[in-house]
Amino acid sequence: MSGPGQAGHPRGLVGRLLGQLMTWHNAQDNRWTLDLLELAAGDRLLEIGFGPGMAVELACRARPDVSVAGIDHSAEMLRAANARNRRFIEAGRVRLELGSVDALPYGDASFDKALAVNSIYFWNDPVTALREILRVLSPGGVLAVTVHDRQREAYRPFDSEALTELLRASGFASVDVRRNGDPRHPLICALGWR
Ligand SMILES: C[S@@+](CC[C@H](N)C(=O)[O-])C[C@H]1O[C@@H](n2cnc3c(N)ncnc32)[C@H](O)[C@@H]1O
Repeated sequence: MSGPGQAGHPRGLVGRLLGQLMTWHNAQDNRWTLDLLELAAGDRLLEIGFGPGMAVELACRARPDVSVAGIDHSAEMLRAANARNRRFIEAGRVRLELGSVDALPYGDASFDKALAVNSIYFWNDPVTALREILRVLSPGGVLAVTVHDRQREAYRPFDSEALTELLRASGFASVDVRRNGDPRHPLICALGWR
C-alpha cells in the first residue's frame, strides 16, 4: 500500500489511465466525504491528494460560494485536475499545486475544511502530515480522512481505531468516525476537529 506505486504517485501514461479509473471508481468516496463536510457559504476548502480533481469539481458545482485549494505530488494528476477544473480556476475559485502533504505551502489557519480521500495510505509519516494539516486549519476547522473499509491486513493501519488514534496523536481536539454502510463499497471517514 505504500511506496512509489502508481496509485500513490501516478506517472506517465499508466498514471493518466489510472486517474481516469479513479474518477469512476472513487466517485462515491468523493461525494460522501463532501456531504460529511457540510460545505457552507464562504468556506475555504483544502484537498490533499486530489488525483484527477473530482472532489474539487463536485465542491465547486455544489457551492458557488466556496474556494478550493489543493495539493498533490503527482504532476500527472495536477495536469488532469487542472484540465477538469479549468473554468473554476479561471474564475479564481480554485488553486491547485504540486507539492507534498509534509510541507504545505499555506499560512497558518488558512482553511475552514479539508479532505483527503484514498490518500493517507501513501503518506510517509501520517502524524507529521496530519499536524501540518492541523496547522493550516482555522480553530474549529474540520478534516475528513476517507479510506476503504477493508478487512485485509494491509488496511489495518487505517481502520477506524487506527485513524482515531492517528488524529488524536496529531493534536485534533475531537474525532468522530463514520461508515457509509454500503457493503459493496465500504468506506470509513474519520472527521477531526481542530
Ligand atoms: C489513490 S489516489 C486518490 C485520488 C482522489 N483523492 C480520489 O479519491 O479519487 C491518491 C492521490 O494522493 C496523492 N498523494 C499520495 N501521497 C501524497 C503526498 N505525500 N502528498 C501529496 N499527494 C499525495 C497521489 O499522487 C494521488 O493523486
